[in-house]
Amino acid sequence: NSKKYILAIESSCDDTSAAVLCNTKVLSNVVATQEIHKQYGGVVPELASRAHQQNIVPVVHQALAKANIDKKQLSAIAFTRGPGLMGSLLVGTSFAKSLALGLNIPLIEVNHMEAHILAHFIEDDAQRSPTFPFLAMTISGGHTQIVKVTDHFTMEVLGETLDDAVGEAFDKSAKLMGLPYPGGPLIDKYAKLGDPTAFTFPKPKVDGLNFSFSGLKTSILYFLQRETQKNPDFVDQNINDICASVQYTILEILMEKLQMAVEQTHITQIAIGGGVAANSGIRGRLRDAEEKLGWQTFIPKFEYCTDNAAMIGIVGYLKFNKGEFSHQNIAAKARYAI
Ligand code: KG4
Ligand code: ZN
Repeated sequence: NSKKYILAIESSCDDTSAAVLCNTKVLSNVVATQEIHKQYGGVVPELASRAHQQNIVPVVHQALAKANIDKKQLSAIAFTRGPGLMGSLLVGTSFAKSLALGLNIPLIEVNHMEAHILAHFIEDDAQRSPTFPFLAMTISGGHTQIVKVTDHFTMEVLGETLDDAVGEAFDKSAKLMGLPYPGGPLIDKYAKLGDPTAFTFPKPKVDGLNFSFSGLKTSILYFLQRETQKNPDFVDQNINDICASVQYTILEILMEKLQMAVEQTHITQIAIGGGVAANSGIRGRLRDAEEKLGWQTFIPKFEYCTDNAAMIGIVGYLKFNKGEFSHQNIAAKARYAI
């Protein structure tokens, strides 16, 4: 039987997710997003692992039920080994190991960052896949990375953030403006109504293809402090222009590095992933680059951009075909490079 049914588990941060794939097709992809972190303005690791513990069994049951698959039909269990929050990873890892042991089927460990990239190979009418070689840029609340991808499992990190992730830059800037967490989507919304040249923020000077976003956050802080001292209603009166200017600065940083990566590698296929790929501004900039620079750009369906188990499942399937299985003594890995 050439049909492989992979159950995939993702628990690296604050989303508990389980998916069932039949080869490269997603039969179900259930995500339980943890609302508890909202009131803290960021992910609280201890609360995240507790919520994973509560969510994991119901989420797996739902994924199997939605896929209309009995667990006895499963070919393997794939799980996120890292990188991520250790307490969160432990829940998914232990659960995957126990289930694989109980069902006596193979266990497959997956690197979360590779999964964000290989999500482009999920078979779906609504999404096109790049061909090798291509450049992948993963941008989310936890990651900012440009990777050269020569094959499913031959990847080279060309650059990454030295401090905050780009999603964090959005969220922390939003917080300074008094917007609720996560503020990225709100900045996107208000930016559409504002003038991106209203205010200017300095771009960090970082060598090569690496990124830095912590300086931007500080300069926004000082800017807002200065302006609200003069006018306490400054933020309320200028929210659209501030958001448009902040977003413009962040997108300039991302696009400059992408352009450098294209010049260095002569690769013009660009695949974007991660939650920030939802940003309408970056989507517009990529469309411009298609027209003006002749790039080909790829963005997966949104549910495969944010943290999800379907992307873990596609890697599981590809590894299954290569016979790359894991032992029961495998351990979660909080820092786990591509
Ligand atoms: O991939 P994701 O759901 O989780 C992580 O792995 O972090 O990404 C969440 C991040 C948050 O920082 C959120 O603010 C950002 O993606 N985000 C956006 C937009 N939608 C989500 N940032 C800017 N514009 C958006 N439309
Ligand atoms: Zn992620």
